[in-house]
Amino acid sequence: MNNTRRIINFETCDSTNDRLKELMKGGAVDGTVVTADVQTNGRGRVSRRWRTDSRDSIAMSVGFRAENLYSRGITEKGLPCITLLAAISVTDAIYHVLRMARDDTPVHIKWPNDIVINGRKVCGILTENILTDDHHFIIVGIGINVRHMDFPPDIADIAGNIEDEAGVMIDRDALIVSVAEELDRYIDLFAKTSDMSELKRHYNERLINMDRIVRVESQDEDFTGVSMGIDDTGALMVKRKSDSGESFVTKVSFGEVSVRGVYGYV
Ligand code: BTN
Repeated sequence: MNNTRRIINFETCDSTNDRLKELMKGGAVDGTVVTADVQTNGRGRVSRRWRTDSRDSIAMSVGFRAENLYSRGITEKGLPCITLLAAISVTDAIYHVLRMARDDTPVHIKWPNDIVINGRKVCGILTENILTDDHHFIIVGIGINVRHMDFPPDIADIAGNIEDEAGVMIDRDALIVSVAEELDRYIDLFAKTSDMSELKRHYNERLINMDRIVRVESQDEDFTGVSMGIDDTGALMVKRKSDSGESFVTKVSFGEVSVRGVYGYV
């Protein structure tokens, strides 16, 4: 365990990403973690709201300065992959706490960075690039559903929590520490090449979409194909067939794009 790591908990805050941004502006060190029991304005991807009503879930954010990531060996081009490293880190950390509870339920990643157990989303990640005149921060915001809670009807079919899905109780605080430690470890591994070449096998082994038919919806086009996992840049490779029956591969980069199974969430 990294004894110098700062974990700052708020009983209530608007969004841990926003609190951490302010703390980083005030000089908080890289790797600082902000957690909250309740978020009043939690944000999800594509401008969705993310609810955190109690300690039944985890709202946590981990912050880094771009200049420090550069000095660890990561290039500007590599920065978008931090969110994939966060997904691997959360997956490994969940495995770790499940093992502590003598459980080996499989944990998967849905590209690019949802974490799923038994086909249900138990974690979402929102990585924000905060650029001002004086600063460039990367804030990795992680929302994990730990134990039973009532979900709103619109997500009740896809959302789940770790304890119900695995059928064991887990150590919530150990999970927070483990996520932060794994993220540091994966950033160091990633920094060796600043691309996913060394880590893509590990990521793809955990990818729920691997070799499955996926539906890709973006501003440019919607299509269906077979997912072949990520490439060195973290893009999802999707094999398709042209009208004349020839196979070709489209590389889907993350952004405002949705990838799901043809029959539902995965
Ligand atoms: C998603 O839509 O899947 C991403 C959800 C990310 C939620 C987390 S909770 C901690 C951090 N603070 C926020 O406001 N959002 C992220």
